[in-house]
Amino acid sequence: MNYYERSCKKIEELRGRNDYLILSIESSCDETAVAVVRGREVLGSVISSQIEIHKRFGGVVPEIASRNHVLAIDNIVDEVLVQAGVTLKDIDVVAVTYGAGLLGALLVGVSYAKSLAYALDVPLMAINHIKGHISANFISAPELEPPFVCLLASGGHTYILEVKAFNDMVILGETQDDAVGEAFDKVARVLGLPYPGGPQIEKLAKEGEPTYKLPRAFKGEKHLNFSYSGLKTAVINLVANTKARGEEIIPANLARSFQDEAVGVLVDNTMLALEQTGHKIVALAGGVGANTALREKLTEAGTKRGIKVLLPPRALCTDNAAMIGVACFEEIKAGMLPADLTLDADPAL
Ligand SMILES: Nc1ncnc2c1ncn2[C@@H]1O[C@H](COP(=O)(O)OP(=O)(O)OP(=O)(O)O)[C@@H](O)[C@H]1O
Ligand SMILES: [Mg+2]
Repeated sequence: MNYYERSCKKIEELRGRNDYLILSIESSCDETAVAVVRGREVLGSVISSQIEIHKRFGGVVPEIASRNHVLAIDNIVDEVLVQAGVTLKDIDVVAVTYGAGLLGALLVGVSYAKSLAYALDVPLMAINHIKGHISANFISAPELEPPFVCLLASGGHTYILEVKAFNDMVILGETQDDAVGEAFDKVARVLGLPYPGGPQIEKLAKEGEPTYKLPRAFKGEKHLNFSYSGLKTAVINLVANTKARGEEIIPANLARSFQDEAVGVLVDNTMLALEQTGHKIVALAGGVGANTALREKLTEAGTKRGIKVLLPPRALCTDNAAMIGVACFEEIKAGMLPADLTLDADPAL
């Protein structure tokens, strides 16, 4: 039997079990992260963020991100093994994010995972980053089972999903242009706030009132899609026009007005999705899920309708490898086959 045949045989043995160890790697953007999970339980999780490195450029520089993943990954694997109290010999499966994300950044994780899986002679599992974000909910709510509705709001994606099963998800609504996190980051830049903009906008909005009227895309239309490009442009124009009149913008009020609208449309469309599908559970996912206003508004709107609202802890909303490990566990349960050693990164997955 060759390596791939042994991998397939091993996965068939593990399917249906929840007592085996997965070492998972996430390097799709500017976090190098490694975790060890057993089923939906996280035994160790280490995240090395490059935020400080990219801050002075106002955003992630892909080539710099890749190089720093290379520098960090080996030490982080060592660190997570110590944290989990296991050694490489105990690992049964290696999981890795293979998309979506930055090509060079993904390639570091994928290459490392391939070498490690082959050297340990264990199966390699290729995991979709977005399914990872959704899986954060299985960590904080281990009793969760589909069907449910998931609001996924991150730096690169904005989706309302009907999760019928882990391998059967339907997109009910999605952004037609910018992702919501991207809009937070761009508006922050207009207001002169450092990268990443989401947490900065949140902080500033706390001191402001929603005094600026901003437009809502697709108002009155029946579908659940989003457009954040118009909202972002409205903010940019508002700032430019105010300056041109020789007046001053009130940054806290603008941050609050933007956040209210950005979050409001997410919650409104999610409530419509729950009505349409009849599901009684909504799960939040993605980096913007760390936003307090979103967490509060979603909880308030859902609770009013008798919906169970699941909010993973903030650290599980932003990029981490624990969610990738648990996504791998769910994929194995759902029937996924191992990847072979020709696995490549897929930036647009
Ligand atoms: N408290 C917050 N409020 C609003 N936005 C936030 C907050 N915290 C983080 N974000 C935003 O979340 C995004 C990062 O989330 P995440 O790590 O999930 O995105 P990503 O991995 O870059 O993109 P994707 O997961 O779509 O590939 C950034 O746009 C950031 O500004
Ligand atoms: Mg992400």
